[in-house]
Amino acid sequence: MLDRIHAQRLADRLRDAGYTYDEVAARIGPQGLDGLARNATLPADRALDGADDPQATLIRCFALQQPVPHSALRALIGDAADEPFLVAGAGAGCRAAIEIRPYAFDDAAGEHAGWLASDLTPILDGRLAQPRGDFVLGLSPASVTLAQLTVRTPVARALDLGTGCGVQSVHLAAHAAAVVATDLNPRACAMAAFTAHLNGVDLDVRQGSLYEPVAGEGFDLIVTNPPYVMAPPHASRLVYREGSYTADGLMHAVVTGAPARLEPGGVLQVLGNWAITADQPWQDRLAHWIAPTGCDALVLQRERLDPYEYIELWLADAGLVGTPDYRRRYAEWAGYFESLGIVGVGMGWLALYRNERDQPQLSIQDWPHQVHQPVAAAFAEFTDAVTTARLSDEDLLARRLATTPDVTQETLGRPGAEDPEHIVLRRGSGFGRAVEVDTALAAVVGACDGELPLAVLIDAVAGLLAVDFAALTADLLPRLRTLIADGYLRTLDPPAI
Ligand SMILES: C[S@@+](CC[C@H](N)C(=O)[O-])C[C@H]1O[C@@H](n2cnc3c(N)ncnc32)[C@H](O)[C@@H]1O
Repeated sequence: MLDRIHAQRLADRLRDAGYTYDEVAARIGPQGLDGLARNATLPADRALDGADDPQATLIRCFALQQPVPHSALRALIGDAADEPFLVAGAGAGCRAAIEIRPYAFDDAAGEHAGWLASDLTPILDGRLAQPRGDFVLGLSPASVTLAQLTVRTPVARALDLGTGCGVQSVHLAAHAAAVVATDLNPRACAMAAFTAHLNGVDLDVRQGSLYEPVAGEGFDLIVTNPPYVMAPPHASRLVYREGSYTADGLMHAVVTGAPARLEPGGVLQVLGNWAITADQPWQDRLAHWIAPTGCDALVLQRERLDPYEYIELWLADAGLVGTPDYRRRYAEWAGYFESLGIVGVGMGWLALYRNERDQPQLSIQDWPHQVHQPVAAAFAEFTDAVTTARLSDEDLLARRLATTPDVTQETLGRPGAEDPEHIVLRRGSGFGRAVEVDTALAAVVGACDGELPLAVLIDAVAGLLAVDFAALTADLLPRLRTLIADGYLRTLDPPAI
């Protein structure tokens, strides 16, 4: 493995040769990039058109898994070309031993351009290599989604639990003064450390399971997409996707262990899977995990798969389609689910907020609808929104509320009709929530421009509709509270918890 100084020297060489995200994107084009995201190298290879200049050589070696002459590589990256962690073989047919992909992002925490190091993608151009058990995954759709939902407020200490190639740590380093990364897999720890060195990021990497390496410590933010795949115990377990726990026991351990590792006000954000059993609604099962933590929670189930769809998805991910083992593994997995009473699998996003309320807020919902990524801001606004939504009637009625700038109103009805049949309020960012409202509620929301107290607005609408103020207030307040909790309305002076 290259130490920090050698890794940073390598980063300089990669940069000098134009092996950066923007320059590689310009060279292979959007189709080349999209192809690589689908594990297809041909679009990028065609864009290179046989070239063997320095940038093309690095793209071929570290992104396309093509052989390149060792002498050419040595001329570009120096001694690093002799490092077995990076390069295998010699002569004309030397190859990358790991992938080093240019990586760039621009999020609320700032802009970044660097690289991600990971094991070689095992499925490339339809060719399949069985990944080793301790395979270290590179950037995946799940990594991207977790990065998009992570709250990017500046914090003192962040934990990247199950760091893999270190991608979340690179993001966290942009807004956390200190980042700790843990992984059960020693190879992942080495890879994350190397990624951090390449990116000039200070990362405290520790090997061990879940919260063990950080016992007794506190964090303001914990992010994880743990190995959530609920596979039967198997000798060829892939550590990056399958924990050694039964069913979703690992997710349970992540959730229940979090409060002890979160500072007051701290947030845990998880992307994962959970079991759906026949004996209770999935929301109740998760509430049962979360309630003892004393945390507020926002859980969105994005998708629900039946057991067979789920098994097929992950057998394909492991490259078992078309192999003699497929049917046996399928049957074994189906029997495992049946023995545990699992009738479906929920896939989604879970956030715990250590807000220390007397009565925590548990918002656990199905949300399969289209969202507007990044949804980080929607997770960030949850705490203040809930606090405002819980104000006493008297306090709420005295507040000046304003509609959030992304809210639009849609009216539907027959052409020429005096009144619309449906009025829908829709948020154009975050979770893209939409809700049907009646005329009175629409009128009050429409008048919320931050100028007058809510009571005055309700009184004016009561006058217009010729109804009693107290009755209209009693009717509207519960629904206004829901609108506030879902971020349609906010006060300009949020109350403290
Ligand atoms: C799905 S990968 C996620 C990697 C990375 N966070 C990302 O966003 O791409 C899950 C990671 O958790 C690690 N892991 C597996 N079991 C673990 C455990 N019990 N404790 C900590 N990490 C674990 C795996 O080695 C793997 O690197």
